[in-house]
Amino acid sequence: MNKIIEVLPDKSALIERSQAIILDKLDKALEARDKFTIALSGGSTPKPLYEALGKKSLPWSKIHIFWGDERYVPANHQDSNQLMARQAWLDKIDIPGSNIHPMDTGAKNPQQDAEEHDRKLHEFFQTQPGEFPAFDLILLGMGDDGHTASLFPHTEALSVKDSLVTVGNKDGEPRITFTVPLINQARCVLFVVAGENKRPALKEVFAEQSDAMNYPSRLIQPQGQLFWLLDESAAADL
Ligand code: 6PG
Repeated sequence: MNKIIEVLPDKSALIERSQAIILDKLDKALEARDKFTIALSGGSTPKPLYEALGKKSLPWSKIHIFWGDERYVPANHQDSNQLMARQAWLDKIDIPGSNIHPMDTGAKNPQQDAEEHDRKLHEFFQTQPGEFPAFDLILLGMGDDGHTASLFPHTEALSVKDSLVTVGNKDGEPRITFTVPLINQARCVLFVVAGENKRPALKEVFAEQSDAMNYPSRLIQPQGQLFWLLDESAAADL
């Protein structure tokens, strides 16, 4: 893993730099495999990035969109990460529907939906259970508590090592999430973090010694490149 930390002056510079990294990894993936696989993060930070990507003219038929986590709500629910990305980006581009691979939440059983998405990822990447496919890029945010994806502090999801997808838990609310080993198999992980409310957790995530169970973003040590893009207000205490 090689870790690159970049501090940008403000949110718009952060979004611009994030887009540049994504487009660079897109080019490299198309050159190498004629296909680009990207997993999106949810929350509010990436919305302007998705809006910017929605204005680009790219070879969408070669781009496959996944999500690193999903709230356990219907796809048309206001909290859905899928809905946010579709409204900000995917509904505005000419991308084949089969290139969009959401985490289904329709089984009314989070474990069942997690297992189903696990199966779909193995099918897409032609991997076997026990193998971990490498996404070209996994986009991540970080919560004020140091969580990422839906890997929350002191939850069982942090210790799942034998699956690609598992059930996350936010204060009792179920989530579907990529596991740590799947994220760490990525060719590139891109954290995009903004705002002074992230300072305390960032300090712990970057500290020499700190408890990764308390700050799960510390667990993300990908075999490929790791970018941390921070705005100045988030990075002030580093
Ligand atoms: C989610 C995200 C989550 C998010 C962080 C940061 O489903 O909410 O995947 O991991 O990235 O909570 O959220 P903000 O960008 O809104 O601060």
